[in-house]
Amino acid sequence: MAQDAIALLEADHHRVEELFRDYKSAGDPAARLHLAQVICMELTLHAMVEEEIFYPAFAAATGDQQMLEHALKEHQEVKDLIARVPSAENLDGAIEAIKQHTLHHVEEERRGMFAKARASGMELATLGGRIATRRAEVADAIQAA
Ligand SMILES: [Fe+2]
Ligand SMILES: [Fe+2]
Repeated sequence: MAQDAIALLEADHHRVEELFRDYKSAGDPAARLHLAQVICMELTLHAMVEEEIFYPAFAAATGDQQMLEHALKEHQEVKDLIARVPSAENLDGAIEAIKQHTLHHVEEERRGMFAKARASGMELATLGGRIATRRAEVADAIQAA
C-alpha cells in the first residue's frame, strides 16, 4: 500500500537521525567512515526526491515560494558540507556540522512545510507513490555502480 509522501519523508528523517546516533556510538574509525558514507548517501537521496517531487508539488499547491527557497538554501548548505567529507581531516567535526544543519532543517520541515502541506489538501498518497518509485530507482542505480 502506498504511504503518504510526508510519512515516507519522515521515515527518511528518522533513519538519518538514527544513523547520526550510530555514528556517535561507533567505536572504530572504519565503522565511522562507513556510517559517514551511508549518512551522506541517505541525505543526498532524500534531498533529491524532495527537490524533484515533493518541493515542486508543495510550491504548486501552496504558492509559498519563500518557504521553498529557504528549504533549497538549507539543502545547498548541507550539500556543500557533504562535498567536503571525502577530504575532511576531521571526520567527526564534518559529520557534526552536517548533523546540526540537518536536524535544524528537519525540524523546520516538520513544523513548517509538512504542516502546511497537510493543511493544503495536496495529493499526498499519489506523491508518496512517486517518491517511493524514484527513491528505489536511484538506490538501485547506486547499488549497481
Ligand atoms: Fe529537506
Ligand atoms: Fe526532509
